Amino acid sequence: METNLPGYVPIARGKVRDVYASGDGGRLLIVATDRISAFDFILATGIPDKGRVLTQMTLFWLDFLRDVTPNHFLSADMTGLPPEFEGRSMWVRRAEMFQVECVARGYLAGSGWKDYQRTGAVCGVPLPAGLQESSALPEPIFTPATKAQSGHDENISFEQAAKIVGAETAAKLRDLTLALYRRAAEYARTRGILIADTKFEFGVVDGQIVLADEVLTPDSSRFWPADRYQPGRSQPSYDKQFVRDYLESIHWNKQPPAPGLPEDVAQRTSEKYKEAYQALTGRAL
Ligand SMILES: Nc1ncnc2c1ncn2[C@@H]1O[C@H](COP(=O)(O)OP(=O)(O)O)[C@@H](O)[C@H]1O
Ligand SMILES: [Mg+2]
Repeated sequence: METNLPGYVPIARGKVRDVYASGDGGRLLIVATDRISAFDFILATGIPDKGRVLTQMTLFWLDFLRDVTPNHFLSADMTGLPPEFEGRSMWVRRAEMFQVECVARGYLAGSGWKDYQRTGAVCGVPLPAGLQESSALPEPIFTPATKAQSGHDENISFEQAAKIVGAETAAKLRDLTLALYRRAAEYARTRGILIADTKFEFGVVDGQIVLADEVLTPDSSRFWPADRYQPGRSQPSYDKQFVRDYLESIHWNKQPPAPGLPEDVAQRTSEKYKEAYQALTGRAL
């Protein structure tokens, strides 16, 4: 649930990951914990092995997608670090991050579905009338969002993204985002999983745009089991369904302090994460 690395000062503790900088500052150690958040709060108990799943899945995709774009990965060798870091951590090149979250959507869900119902568009991208919740889009779309320091990210138009990163860069990020999404979604389909949407983060290292952060994990994406896909309703989610169901069942008011999870809910959720990993990669964790 918590990491400590003697001699290092964490430069960030996110909801899920702790980030440490190397002595010279050029490298970062990103450690995925077993923390889980729901409704924007970190729950009091973790999900066994969740951090390992997130890190191993990111490593899988970074490798799978490395000919689409260069990325920040350096090494997963944790020699000399506490043994608990093994398998859930990676060294990366520190990037100057773009302050835009790069979202690709192939299906209508979440905030995309909400925007569409209100405006007939998502992030200013007009869509055909008559789409339902979870409908497949005619083609994948780029729907950027702000990178909020705290609270909710906010959907923005391509033009607003261009104001933040510049028009030329915004066009590059859009093209990369859609190319990565297409490649990943096409592969995942053959493994029985629909990638409804996903969020990438890019940065610059030595003047070059690199893919950074976590990649195509259940925390950054919506994965749907293809054999249960049915538009017109929300889809069963691969990861947090048990958690959300449990939290609804105890009528938590969604104010802090966030509750913990009973052992069996945490255990079943852990199995779901591992199932997603195995389905996508064809390997057991
Ligand atoms: N290569 C990198 N260089 C610099 N920052 C990075 C890199 N990769 C990821 N990050 C940043 O590290 C942080 C990871 O924290 P995370 O656990 O995702 O927290 P959050 O709750 O903010 O999403 C994010 O702010 C992400 O933008
Ligand atoms: Mg994050």
